[in-house]
Amino acid sequence: MRVAIVGCGVIGGILARAIDEGRAGDVELVYLFDLDGEKARRLADSLKRRVRVAGSIDEIVRDEAVNLVVEAAAPSAVKEYGEKVLMAGKDLMVLSVGAFHDQELYDRIVEILRERDVHVYIPSGAISGLDAVKAAAMEELEVVELVTRKPPRAFKGNRYVESKGIDLDKVTRPTVLFEGSAREAAPLFPKGINVALSLSLAGIGADRTKVKVIADPTINRNVHEIHAKGSFGRLLCVTHNYPSPENPETSYLAALSAVRTLRNLTEKLRIGT
Ligand SMILES: NC(=O)c1ccc[n+]([C@@H]2O[C@H](COP(=O)([O-])OP(=O)(O)OC[C@H]3O[C@@H](n4cnc5c(N)ncnc54)[C@H](O)[C@@H]3O)[C@@H](O)[C@H]2O)c1
Repeated sequence: MRVAIVGCGVIGGILARAIDEGRAGDVELVYLFDLDGEKARRLADSLKRRVRVAGSIDEIVRDEAVNLVVEAAAPSAVKEYGEKVLMAGKDLMVLSVGAFHDQELYDRIVEILRERDVHVYIPSGAISGLDAVKAAAMEELEVVELVTRKPPRAFKGNRYVESKGIDLDKVTRPTVLFEGSAREAAPLFPKGINVALSLSLAGIGADRTKVKVIADPTINRNVHEIHAKGSFGRLLCVTHNYPSPENPETSYLAALSAVRTLRNLTEKLRIGT
């Protein structure tokens, strides 16, 4: 399988190195692309095998040798390139899954998948438990809730939090910043919404999936809890995320999950739902 990576930041870098070192399955990395061309060039130069640096997304889309494009850039990249990639007959892996809170974009992508022999892969990212939620959603799933706790400093610069008049430097006990649906949370927490969207897509949708966001001064890592209840029983799944070695903003598990998703594609034995 020949792969192009779009976005050469934390996740793109970890994925490129995993492919380069043969840890991501039977996969060849053929292109890197980043709006910041210098970043793509530096990453390419750091790899053992030769990789082309694309000057534009069109260069990748035109190349018939590419089978899969991995988006590890930004929600705007999913919006700008997603349909183009799929219409060119290539599969797409999406890390910026928060882009799918735009229902029209999601519906257009699903329509393309219905009509063409192409696939979209969404790694579990920074949360665990999607396997069970997916299975449980095969029957009645009454409740799915995500409780996200982050240290108060993680919400610095968030306009919604500022508008509530909360002084993050003075938060001394766990404080609920938001409670509502995943769909409502998406525009308010653009940085942290990927996990809420993956959970929604795996389970009962963005309108029925509940989200609680807590600024918690007692922790120094991001913690995601999934609570679910249905005909399968009850689930509580807690993930304490360590930051990536390269960038504290990105949970390391998200990058590892992208590597594993890629490896799944060329493995004949698949474990987990
Ligand atoms: N699914 C999850 O659980 C999860 C977890 C962490 C991050 N993410 C998302 O994955 C994406 C990548 O994360 P990261 O930590 O590697 O980010 P990063 O900021 O380290 O790297 C992103 C890179 O993409 C480039 N870029 C941005 N827009 C682009 C575009 N339109 N075309 C080409 N290149 C573009 C930037 O220049 C940057 O180099 C982000 O959208 C992030 O929100 C998802």
